[in-house]
Amino acid sequence: MIDIHAHILPQIDDGAQTKTMSFQMCEMAAKSGVSDIIATPHMLDLYAGDEFAQKVNARVDFLNRLMEEKGIALRIHKGAEVYASQDILYAPDLKPYTLAGSRYLLFEFDFAQATLHYAKEVASIILSQDLIPVLAHPERYRFTLSDYQNINRLAECGVLFQCNLGSLTGELGKRESVLAREMLNAGAVSFLATDAHRVEFRNTDINGMIEDIKEKKKKVDYTKLKPLLTDNPMKIIRGERVENPSFATLKKKLF
Ligand SMILES: [Fe+2]
Repeated sequence: MIDIHAHILPQIDDGAQTKTMSFQMCEMAAKSGVSDIIATPHMLDLYAGDEFAQKVNARVDFLNRLMEEKGIALRIHKGAEVYASQDILYAPDLKPYTLAGSRYLLFEFDFAQATLHYAKEVASIILSQDLIPVLAHPERYRFTLSDYQNINRLAECGVLFQCNLGSLTGELGKRESVLAREMLNAGAVSFLATDAHRVEFRNTDINGMIEDIKEKKKKVDYTKLKPLLTDNPMKIIRGERVENPSFATLKKKLF
């Protein structure tokens, strides 16, 4: 399996705080059946791109060397989770922040403030650079939770969706778990990932989370889980195209 969203790099954001914690997160992922992780530290300041790139490169190289030394079959790739602040409206070059050097850009906004209008504007800027917008955890924003059909509206603009496994287990909240489940069952999700930040809570143990979802019988279509952790993520790493899914109009909202 491949994890396309994880905060495993040490001392760069609110994810792994030490090299030891990074190592533990990587080891846990490998034991869970993960072969590749795209490291996606928060990219908060689009005007500090060079410094960010240097930090990411050094940390990814460090972890890959460590995996080799320890004989752990896990490959770390460069990536970012771009925070779409107003700066993005000035359309800085976003290519340096794509996932594993592909055309796919993982981005997020403020959970409470973002609106459909703003989300569409951001998506159009990403698309204008010949990149493909992948919205991180669409199940966590106020504007999607208050109207599920905003997911359909964003998909119509060419946005792909990456839901968090932790939303499906329920560890990120009940409302988030319901929207993630509705999206998954409808076929609206292109990628699942951990969005791991730690070793304990919000970790890299994908198999553990899948088992947790099954145990809790959360009305999730389990057959959809594994492909979204293997097939589409592999296409990103190989630089291949991921089809834009077509799916039915979601219910307005359940809460
Ligand atoms: Fe994240």
